[in-house]
Amino acid sequence: MRRSDWQAVLDVVTPAALDYLHSLPERPVYPPVADHATVRAALDHGLPNIGVDPAEVVADLVSDLTPYVTAHASGRFFGFIIGGLHPAAWGAELLVSTWDQNAGLFPPTPGVAVAEELAAEWLLDLLGLPGESSVGFVTGDQMATFTCLAAARDEVLRQVGWDVETNGLMGAPPLTVVLKRGVHSTVLRALRFLGLGEQSAVLVDCDDQDRVRPDALARALAAVSGPTILAVECGNVNTGAFDDFAAVADLADAHRAAGNPTWVHVDGAVMLLAAAAPSMAAHVRGLARLDSWSTDGHKLLNVAYDCGVAICRHPAAHRAAMSVQASYLEQGAGARDAMDWNPEFSRRARGVGVYATLRAFGRTGVADLVERTVGLAQRFAEQLAASGQAQVVNEVVSNQVLIRWLATDGDNGALAEAVMAGVRAEGTAFFSGTTYRGERLMRISVSDWATDEADVDRVVASLLRAASARG
Ligand SMILES: Cc1ncc(COP(=O)(O)O)c(C=O)c1O
Repeated sequence: MRRSDWQAVLDVVTPAALDYLHSLPERPVYPPVADHATVRAALDHGLPNIGVDPAEVVADLVSDLTPYVTAHASGRFFGFIIGGLHPAAWGAELLVSTWDQNAGLFPPTPGVAVAEELAAEWLLDLLGLPGESSVGFVTGDQMATFTCLAAARDEVLRQVGWDVETNGLMGAPPLTVVLKRGVHSTVLRALRFLGLGEQSAVLVDCDDQDRVRPDALARALAAVSGPTILAVECGNVNTGAFDDFAAVADLADAHRAAGNPTWVHVDGAVMLLAAAAPSMAAHVRGLARLDSWSTDGHKLLNVAYDCGVAICRHPAAHRAAMSVQASYLEQGAGARDAMDWNPEFSRRARGVGVYATLRAFGRTGVADLVERTVGLAQRFAEQLAASGQAQVVNEVVSNQVLIRWLATDGDNGALAEAVMAGVRAEGTAFFSGTTYRGERLMRISVSDWATDEADVDRVVASLLRAASARG
């Protein structure tokens, strides 16, 4: 076998990686220069005719690219909903890259297959979900939702005698999808991928926190019959709110009892992890009675990008929707083959990062992570509300806060943009906005294990400075 100079590459990577990670508390959260032309000029060496030494390529990546990296793993990154990087996840991901396993099947990759099997079992245990549930590790919540809704679609139609896996959807009996008004766009996108169409769903009204209204849901269900799929949320992208899972489960049970095959999916991208925190128990009551759950490793759990998790309480439906056979594969050795539970064929062993992170946190560590990030979100909310320069728009029940900046000229939206741009340019923090009920607001998402009280206090001061500068 030809040998390679791995050491030379590692000699470049190790100090660069450590420099980067050690710089996180001080480095600008957003790169000072980030325009497309500059970044491209820094990286575009042209495709060489004669290859470049690997250590040199990697050294160039360090010098050319690092200045343009956004510090997603900084404890002061509060944009979108982007998790940080737990040290155990980092180590696991380095190893997963080093081992380079194509982790679709047990026989060729027994080590990572068992790590993923254990990660799946630990997650069900930690979240209090039914032990018989099946788990797929995918790229993110988008694909987890797709996976769960594929199982849902096939199962509710199977119950009326239609085999989607064999026959597809042409000529299938009608199927109704019931969603919350304002549902996350990834659910609509999953419906598009599944041949159900983005516009086909019945939309149900929500309350002022974007929780589905049980009375409206009851009316919507009473108006439909036959195979029915519902999707609700464990953590709304804007308000962080939890739907009333117990009420949803009761309504689904009644709909099912009336002869309608029914499946309820929970999009838990933001806060499925709340189920691991005793203090959040009231918010997740009834969660385990539903049929499938999607979440992210790369958000609050702080696993490296990318990692999502699809969980189904009906393994046969999950497997029927996802599994694939081929004459040359080695399948069915009695252990879990990842390929049965996710849509990828070849795949990275994403669950290893979950295994490592769960071990490193432990049960109490995960509960503490949830409670701490919620507490820090509330700290942001209290300080900003007390300033008189901003209002908190949502009830801060999880790690998401919606802020209305109060402009002296009345243009609150422009002030929000100016404040976010100000702290970004200063390098102190990163926030992103949203248009919520027609109004431009600032979002705060506390999703990093590393964020502490001092970060919040420092960032609030920076936000208020930026607001005062604009007026
Ligand atoms: C409620 C909700 N669902 C789904 C997603 C998509 O998650 P991912 O980007 O991991 O696919 C997000 C992302 O923020 C979200 O907030």
